[in-house]
Amino acid sequence: MHHNAKVISANTYAGYPTIMTLQELEAMREYAHRDPHAFWLKQAERIHWYRKPTQTFSGSFEGDVSIRWYEDGQLNASVSCLDRHLAERAEQVALISQREGRQDIEKITYADLLARVCRVAHALKSLGVEKGQRVAICLPMVSEAVVTMLACARIGAVHVVLFGGFSAEGIAERLVDSGAVAVVTANAAYRGPKLIPFKETMDEALQKSEGAHKVRSMLVVRTTNENVSMQHGRDHDFHEYIKGFATEFTPVIMDAEDPFFMLYTSGSTGKPKAIVHTCGGYLVWASYTMGMIYTHQRGDVLWCTADVAWITGHTSVLYGPLCNGGTTMISDSLPNYPVPGRWWDLVEQCKVTMFFTAPTAVRALMAEDDVVVKRRDLSSLKLLGVAGEPTSPDGWAWYHDVVGQGRCPVIDTWWQTETGGPILGAIPGVQSLKPGSATTPLPGISMSLIDQNGSVVEGSGEGGLFINKSWPGQARTIWGDHERFRQTYFTMVPGRYFSGDAAQRDDDGYYWLMGRMDDVINIAGHRLGTAEVEDALAEDHRIVESAAVGVSHGLKGQGLVVFVIVRKEAVGEVTEKTVSDLIVSKIGRYAVPESVYLVPDLPRTRSGKIVRRLLRKIAEGHTENLGDLSSLNDMSVVGMLCERVKKQKASS
Ligand code: WTA
Repeated sequence: MHHNAKVISANTYAGYPTIMTLQELEAMREYAHRDPHAFWLKQAERIHWYRKPTQTFSGSFEGDVSIRWYEDGQLNASVSCLDRHLAERAEQVALISQREGRQDIEKITYADLLARVCRVAHALKSLGVEKGQRVAICLPMVSEAVVTMLACARIGAVHVVLFGGFSAEGIAERLVDSGAVAVVTANAAYRGPKLIPFKETMDEALQKSEGAHKVRSMLVVRTTNENVSMQHGRDHDFHEYIKGFATEFTPVIMDAEDPFFMLYTSGSTGKPKAIVHTCGGYLVWASYTMGMIYTHQRGDVLWCTADVAWITGHTSVLYGPLCNGGTTMISDSLPNYPVPGRWWDLVEQCKVTMFFTAPTAVRALMAEDDVVVKRRDLSSLKLLGVAGEPTSPDGWAWYHDVVGQGRCPVIDTWWQTETGGPILGAIPGVQSLKPGSATTPLPGISMSLIDQNGSVVEGSGEGGLFINKSWPGQARTIWGDHERFRQTYFTMVPGRYFSGDAAQRDDDGYYWLMGRMDDVINIAGHRLGTAEVEDALAEDHRIVESAAVGVSHGLKGQGLVVFVIVRKEAVGEVTEKTVSDLIVSKIGRYAVPESVYLVPDLPRTRSGKIVRRLLRKIAEGHTENLGDLSSLNDMSVVGMLCERVKKQKASS
């Protein structure tokens, strides 16, 4: 327990332009608790409505589970992000786009961004994209990604942003599942020194799923000089195609509960699932959470380094900042390429005031000498943030002391694709901080910890992390599989949303995340289901069985280790490399295993269930204290595996 954790008083940041006092924050919490209807109607005023809602939450976590917010409201998200700001900030920069290796940094004003969005909206319409249809976007971190997402919002199409690290198979599966009718991708893009063949991968995905996908057209952004083959009639050069269209487009009016976007993420069972967010609730939530934590003021530049293909890329890069009239920045630069501390150059150059990244990036940056940070002028920074994984107290301290020079609050926010925006996180300069803790729930959120006996933990303690009541940004369903949605999140403890995480709460009510309770691992901030890996390997008939586990990894947080039993006839033919390549080709580069062990057997219970807890320990080399082995079917397997791991580690 974290009873003796360091506390950093809010007074430390006396110069921080806070949005409220601690008393006001407490009053806000109390108000949200006492009159949630009034509280959430008030938060809804943060965005533009064509028809203002009179309702807030309706639905239930019980039975079939239905979640609806602001149901009689009507809006178009792009209006809240763009049109609404024109009167006051048409010439203010909305989006800064920086590309590695290019001299010019693109600065796009609100007026310009709206014009670009309208052009692309027309282009998508002319390709036959209708309201409610899905558009897959697979792009590097370029301005066209933001423009296309907003263009989808403008015409009421549902964007499905796909991660550039997915393999062709991974993309194919998602194109088929989402029923996307159009694709926007790039020809190719550099990630550091590596050329990522976006178009080629997309072509392969479409070919693999021929007959099953519904994609009719593709816009290709030329982000590099690479030539790619274009299929006549289907593929178009993005900028060529949009050129002639008008820079005004009447927004399509959406009902609050119309689908807004979907995002694929991993769960503990095989297939990746598309989490569905809807227009009204999501946008209020994005605006509210980012308004509370990333408190945009004139002149602020928010740089959230998250890829647009993640929920943080949606909420913290795009919808949150633009709803709040801020300046947001995207960049395709890597933290330490081509020079150590590359990101600090960009902070200095673009005068970033609020910097938000993943703990995994903090660890990578921390691995360099402090001189790398100190050589840069980071005086523009006033706020630092992290999300996506637990941050260790020493990583937090380095970020705070070296990067922030002790001046900037470090806000650790806990959230999920399913929560739409931060759930846990401190109001900067208002609440005390504790290094390594994601602090407390935002006003309006009620959480609980529930122990193994199903009892609610009161006060300090430990348990599964649940959210007791709906919030506007909550995911509504899993695309095409509402039953899975209900099963995954609402059956563990009926009437409450189960996050899948375990956490501790200290005497001050601060939360400390302890990682996932299910078979989901978190590799450098990317969620991966171990079952996803096992299912991919099961498709190879030479493999009898496999078990994938997450082990702790100094840089990535967690790494993947796979144990594989190869069919006798194929021993010698299937190597560690074959297995590794297979995973990369079925899932994507981010899933590349740290180690592969080819083994004759796995530890099992008498009923034949693989004991993963044990495999994890063995893979991490913690072989001295394996706990009680008496429930195993064959204890000798354990000794054999320990030997195998030790030997392979020594030889590599
Ligand atoms: C983990 C990312 C500790 C957690 C925004 C969660 C965190 C999963 C934190 C969701 C944090 C996220 N501290 N762990 N501040 N934030 N997580 O959907 O296990 O990609 O369930 O959303 O990341 O990952 P997702």
